[in-house]
Amino acid sequence: MLGPDFGHRTTLFPMTDTHLDTTQPFGLIGVGALAHAMAATWAHQAPNQPIGVWARSASRGVRLRDAVQRSVGRPEGIETIDLLDSIDEMAAMHTTVLAVRDSDLEEVARELAQHPPEVEDAVVLHASGALPVHVLEPLRLVGYQIGRMHPLVSLRRKADPEGFRGVGFSISGGPVAVARAKALALWLGGWILPPLAEGEAQVRYHAAASLLAGGIGVLFEYSLDGMARALGDRDAARGGLIHLLRSVAANLEEVEPRDALTGPSARGDVEVVRQHLEALTPEGAEIYRALLPAMLHMAFERGTLAEVDRDRMLAFLAQEGVA
Ligand SMILES: NC(=O)c1ccc[n+]([C@@H]2O[C@H](COP(=O)([O-])OP(=O)(O)OC[C@H]3O[C@@H](n4cnc5c(N)ncnc54)[C@H](OP(=O)(O)O)[C@@H]3O)[C@@H](O)[C@H]2O)c1
Repeated sequence: MLGPDFGHRTTLFPMTDTHLDTTQPFGLIGVGALAHAMAATWAHQAPNQPIGVWARSASRGVRLRDAVQRSVGRPEGIETIDLLDSIDEMAAMHTTVLAVRDSDLEEVARELAQHPPEVEDAVVLHASGALPVHVLEPLRLVGYQIGRMHPLVSLRRKADPEGFRGVGFSISGGPVAVARAKALALWLGGWILPPLAEGEAQVRYHAAASLLAGGIGVLFEYSLDGMARALGDRDAARGGLIHLLRSVAANLEEVEPRDALTGPSARGDVEVVRQHLEALTPEGAEIYRALLPAMLHMAFERGTLAEVDRDRMLAFLAQEGVA
């Protein structure tokens, strides 16, 4: 399982400059999903060092602060978050993470660039998987060191201090920003992915991540629907399916995807697959149908599907209009 012990992976990269000085001021702009996980992790690991947060909506800022305080059990006298009155206070931060949606990054970078850094080697990082570092160019022009640190994880607005445990980070930017981002990623409990060239490779990286994260969600939706109707109990269906998903993930960590493939399509069992397609909702059946050729191909490549079974399944797929 992808677990916390990824020390060996971080050694793939030079370990110099990987210490994060948590006594230096740290700031977050935005109070969404990324900000919740980052602020909660910081509050747990450096409880005596409040971070500065700039929220454009005061009430949402307070909500983040309350959620983070709750996550650390509201220790008396310890304020984990300092809600800032204005974005200009970010100029005093040693490291600032722009935890805003990708579509807002350019605007926020321009806004912060109105306030040049007040400290040496002030670093500003964005967390987008899709956008290049140079969306922060206005900040570089006024003296900030700029970079990008994208956590390969799916987050929602939850003050989870374990949100980055075992997570791979894709990092790029200038040398000072990269060193800071690596130190922060490791300190948050993550590990560093191999460097990624901007342009085509970054698009491929992000497309791959989005296909998996989004695709699993869609598959889960239709599986849950079918399972809940079968069992008459949505909670039990969810619990059962989550465990099934975990077992698939555990297998995928150990073997190639084609070797982890199970189920009737991988065995070439046409009759069972036909019944499945009838039993699912039209939307669920459409997705199942679309995946069948790839399942069949992988099973055949693995060498466990007899040619005769593959041909029967291919004939069935042709009938269904998918191959
Ligand atoms: N969520 C994930 O799973 C995930 C994973 C990896 C990377 N990331 C990256 O993390 C970054 C943040 O994503 P997210 O999911 O945390 O987004 P999010 O939950 O939608 O939160 C975005 C936050 O940005 C704030 N914001 C937008 N414009 C602003 C402005 N002009 N000034 C101040 N705050 C502003 C929003 O404020 P309001 O609350 O007032 O709307 C909101 O709090 C993105 O670059 C994303 O690609 C996210």
